[in-house]
Amino acid sequence: MILPPNSVDINANGASSSKAEKDEEMGIAMYYEYEAENERKNFIDHLILHGDKFSDEEIHDHIYTFVAAGYEKVALQTFYTLLLLAIHVEVQEKVYEEIIEVFSTDGKINYESLNRLTYLDQVIKESMRLLPAVPIIGRETQEEVEIGTRKIPKGIQLMMHIFDLHRRKDIWGEDANLFNPDRFSPKNEAKRLENSFLPFSTGLRDCIGKHYAILAIKTIIVNLIRNYKLTADLKTEELT
Ligand code: HEM
Repeated sequence: MILPPNSVDINANGASSSKAEKDEEMGIAMYYEYEAENERKNFIDHLILHGDKFSDEEIHDHIYTFVAAGYEKVALQTFYTLLLLAIHVEVQEKVYEEIIEVFSTDGKINYESLNRLTYLDQVIKESMRLLPAVPIIGRETQEEVEIGTRKIPKGIQLMMHIFDLHRRKDIWGEDANLFNPDRFSPKNEAKRLENSFLPFSTGLRDCIGKHYAILAIKTIIVNLIRNYKLTADLKTEELT
């Protein structure tokens, strides 16, 4: 039953309940129905059902992380990729051809078809190298650590510049500032230094949404590139 805000409903047993209470009852009933049908629980339900472990503030912060990461970072990285494709129309043409080839047999966008877009994968990776949506991450040392020739004491806050790492000429070559998806061809990937490419960070606290993120970016790009041709009056070097 849908009730207007703050309205009061009379139950069969004569007890009245507000819309908020009704909604809560309906929400809980729906949750148990969902739980009975699915082995998996959704993220917010996990947090709420473990209310003794998470404060309201923590639940709020976790949801914020997911919204910020799931929407904002994907949106930003998609925008950067589309911008690079608009600047590099020859790369866009190759992406278009791959899309047509993959979807000519099966028009459906799904996990399998998206995974067959291997050149688009290279393009997205090169976009994440050149214009990473998360350019800097921070950590605090839990103990003394040695980095190269330096000893960093415990309790120091470090900023790690993913953006600069991705443009190091000693790693990526003299043309490090230029857009070239061939850097991520299977042959070149095999030669790449470990930890030289960290758009999703690495280690225990790396991005838990990285596979989903790539699928989401691919889905948007497939829908746009098979319908539109993008152009821009810019050069990669002119981006500030
Ligand atoms: C292109 C899109 C994305 C990029 C570039 C990205 C990048 C990153 C990076 C660099 C970190 C490490 C942050 C740090 O160490 O401070 C991170 C963490 C995280 N990401 Fe993503 N992310 C993306 C999309 C997503 C999506 C779609 C989700 C969820 C659906 C997600 C969920 C998270 C979460 C929950 C963490 C924190 C993990 C932890 O602290 O243990 N991200 N992401």
